[in-house]
Amino acid sequence: MMASVCCAQSLRQEADNAGLLIGTAVRPSQLSEAAYASTLAHEFNMVEPEDAMKWWVLRPDATTFDFRQGDEVVRFAQSHQMKIRGHCLVWGRYNPDWLTQGHFTTQQLSQLLHEHITRVMKHFAGQVFAWDVVNEALDENGNVRDSLWYNQPGIGLSENGTAYIEQVFRWAHKADPRALLFYNEAEGEGLNRKSDAIYAMVKDFKHRGVPIHGVGLQMHVPNLDANVPEIAANIARLTALGLRVHITELDVSLPVDSSGRLFPDDLTRQAEVYRGIVWACLNSPGCTAIQTWGFTDKYSWIGSHSRGARGQALPFDRAYQPKPAYRAVLEELLAGRLPAH
Ligand code: XIL
Repeated sequence: MMASVCCAQSLRQEADNAGLLIGTAVRPSQLSEAAYASTLAHEFNMVEPEDAMKWWVLRPDATTFDFRQGDEVVRFAQSHQMKIRGHCLVWGRYNPDWLTQGHFTTQQLSQLLHEHITRVMKHFAGQVFAWDVVNEALDENGNVRDSLWYNQPGIGLSENGTAYIEQVFRWAHKADPRALLFYNEAEGEGLNRKSDAIYAMVKDFKHRGVPIHGVGLQMHVPNLDANVPEIAANIARLTALGLRVHITELDVSLPVDSSGRLFPDDLTRQAEVYRGIVWACLNSPGCTAIQTWGFTDKYSWIGSHSRGARGQALPFDRAYQPKPAYRAVLEELLAGRLPAH
């Protein structure tokens, strides 16, 4: 008998059947909300803290590590048999003021970063199975972005392009040799200068034995147009290197008018974008996880990020009711992976 959408229990169950991880970004402060917690545990088999493992949460000052919020996410995930992705160890943005304004020398920064990676990864070892080690290090032309860690003043490898990225992957592997290590990036999902540069970098890393296991494609889709054939081609070339691909931050934000209302048919168009992306991942054997950046429109970074111009980007509405996007994802999961050929 054919499985039908009416009787499917959850994204989680169908993802389990399809051999796929289906995850979402989570906020520890909402875990005590019954509808949030029950939807999360029912629908997903993986979580990633939206902010709780970033520097500005973990590091109130140069000498303190505050793991409380991260530990809350871990506890929730473990009690519901969910996998945990960690995010993110190295990023040029969202760092605490004491760090960005501390006038540290390259040597001090190098020590701080090495210590951070080591302490954080050892704390979560055996709990976090995969880490976004470096986030958003390239610009839209594929050049290494100016940043605290690269050249402002950097950790001592500022004239060497991707060498600082390589260095932190080596530190990360040493800190937790069992963790899968990812390079995570925005706006390099299809085929463009940035995705070419990501590809060239990770190919070089693979060839020289730098410990890297995957690429995270963020997949924040702002204009309802995801180029699915290009995304599939990009996933194919990355996985051909022997790397995994995770879709890490999927959301499809919709324009809203001044009263917050949507334009006609946009929920249907949104569902088709979700469908295309899930299809592209499911039909690439090396694409092993799909994660949305939150799951309910009640809690999403899109509203403040777009200053209210966009919203309703996620598969559940503000009342935790599934939207057409949810059904599209579920249908694709039910269809499963194409047989290998
Ligand atoms: C965002 C969070 O959603 C916000 O809560 C926070 O204020 C800023 O960061 N790319 C990333 C994520 O890799 O970490 C970002 O998350 C969204 C863009």
